[in-house]
Amino acid sequence: MITIIGSGKVGGDAAMFSALKRLDDHILLLDVAKGLPQGEAMDINHMLAEQGIDVHVKGSNNFEDMKGSEIVVIVAGSGRKPGMTRMDLLKTNATIVKSVVENVKKYAPDSMIIPVTNPLDPMAHITYKVSGFERGRVFGMGGMLDLSRFRQFICEATGHSRDSVRALVIGEHGENMLPLARFSSVSGIPLPSLLSKPELDELVQNTKQVAAKVIELKGATVHAPGNAISAIIESVTRDRRQVIPVSTCLDGEYGQSGVSIGVPAVIGRGGVEKIIELELDDEERQMFERGVASVKDAVSGVEI
Ligand code: LAC
Repeated sequence: MITIIGSGKVGGDAAMFSALKRLDDHILLLDVAKGLPQGEAMDINHMLAEQGIDVHVKGSNNFEDMKGSEIVVIVAGSGRKPGMTRMDLLKTNATIVKSVVENVKKYAPDSMIIPVTNPLDPMAHITYKVSGFERGRVFGMGGMLDLSRFRQFICEATGHSRDSVRALVIGEHGENMLPLARFSSVSGIPLPSLLSKPELDELVQNTKQVAAKVIELKGATVHAPGNAISAIIESVTRDRRQVIPVSTCLDGEYGQSGVSIGVPAVIGRGGVEKIIELELDDEERQMFERGVASVKDAVSGVEI
């Protein structure tokens, strides 16, 4: 069973995309808000009934219902308002995430946890520490969402089809995110062979800033995060062993330890099966390390 804790717009979308992809026969939407998960589940089930998809979505306010879950997604918490940074949510959401993780530890001790709540990397680290799970069972969704935006900007800049574009974004899911043009391509052709440095710099800046723009225009980001969550779940449930940037605790990789931050990882049935270390150049490494410092500073201010 897949459990999604937080049944707001992103949680509901993640449940819907996961159901449409038939990632599990049973999906549980949990929330403390009475009626919200139940209503969301009914709405999705009605859509699935018309499509003849026998995936059953249940809504509940009872954490005990997550018993037996293989995967638990944590979306619970406040979302950014226009003008806010993800880090502005730290104090509020740390309290919520700690409480949620205590329930996951109690009712789904053998699950894998996919944190989504912002600020993502500090929340992923808090989840890892509070759960006491092996680090490979905690991997936050951030870079997968960022690379979807980077891919869109690459398509717009080059005019090539979306399925010919591969992109990679690592580091902090926040102000110090690191879209990697050198490790992105169109039909295998490295991006720097196709676009000039100024063009690439513009794509990188656009990728960093576009979430805030969507929030300013429509109030929240919904479909891209919901989809990115389901894509990570799919790599687990179908054991696809895709290389996906996820926020997971490092233990020497990239010269860092004791911090959770976005790195390329092989995601399969066992969760994080391998962390892939890239040869970063000086500029890339500086940005990566700025993200590490930002995440470490944020976590140091939270009582775990
Ligand atoms: C975003 C949020 C989920 O980037 O951090 O849309």
